[in-house]
Amino acid sequence: MSTAKKDVKRVTTHVLASMKAQNQKISMLTAYDYSMAKIIDEAGIDIILVGDSASNVMAGHETTLPITLDQMIYHASSVIRAVKRCLVVVDLPFGSYQGNSKVALDSAIRIMKESGAHAVKLEGGEEVSESIKRIISAGVPVMGHLGLTPQSIYKFGTYTVRAKEEMEAQKLKEDALLLQKIGCFGLVMEKIPATLAGVVTASLEIPTIGIGAGADVDGQVLVSHDLLGITKDFHPRFLRRYAELHDVIGSAVEHYINDVKNGDFPSAKEQY
Ligand code: KIV
Repeated sequence: MSTAKKDVKRVTTHVLASMKAQNQKISMLTAYDYSMAKIIDEAGIDIILVGDSASNVMAGHETTLPITLDQMIYHASSVIRAVKRCLVVVDLPFGSYQGNSKVALDSAIRIMKESGAHAVKLEGGEEVSESIKRIISAGVPVMGHLGLTPQSIYKFGTYTVRAKEEMEAQKLKEDALLLQKIGCFGLVMEKIPATLAGVVTASLEIPTIGIGAGADVDGQVLVSHDLLGITKDFHPRFLRRYAELHDVIGSAVEHYINDVKNGDFPSAKEQY
């Protein structure tokens, strides 16, 4: 049975803030196309993230780095056409915001204008704060992303848990406060110790959304293809699979192939 807050007509950043204030958990999932976004929105999700994980899940790249701004806009506009209720947040892809706040602003404006999305997300703390300030000053809501930030995979060298050491944990706490201060409406924290995520969440008024960050956060996000078991060989500890669609789809396709080969499809009733 769904416990989604379907009484809310349209989820906005203000609705999310009041959900945190009222201790209501926030649900978030990725989507990259019209059909999946429609199912997820109708199920009552609060936020759809058009994640740059599209680079892995949709395009088959090893990392999130290759996806382009044009490709993100294509995915986001497909999602937006499906959505009636949830907030749609779109990742600014690698290379579209780092190091130059004017470039960041132009990228965010392109996403908002060309896809109709409601907000953008970008990775990093103090080092991208000028970009975040400039985007927010143009009226575009920004969600932060700290902890494991996959666009920096070649700096980290591994997808392992971040901020286990005191120095990195301290920087993450400071970055979280800074992101709130400069106006981010929410913060994703990826693959960090649960205790740290709890401390950060308690220190903030803006909602935190965890992925591999334990239960003491304001909401959870997963990649929908992982949750649905469409991806098969990805088993991080934080992932709970709610379906095994890889197998369901595979056996449906095998069934179809057999029916075609045996002449069982189409039947007399399935022709004109
Ligand atoms: O791109 C993505 O899917 C993400 C989530 C893992 C938070 O950023």
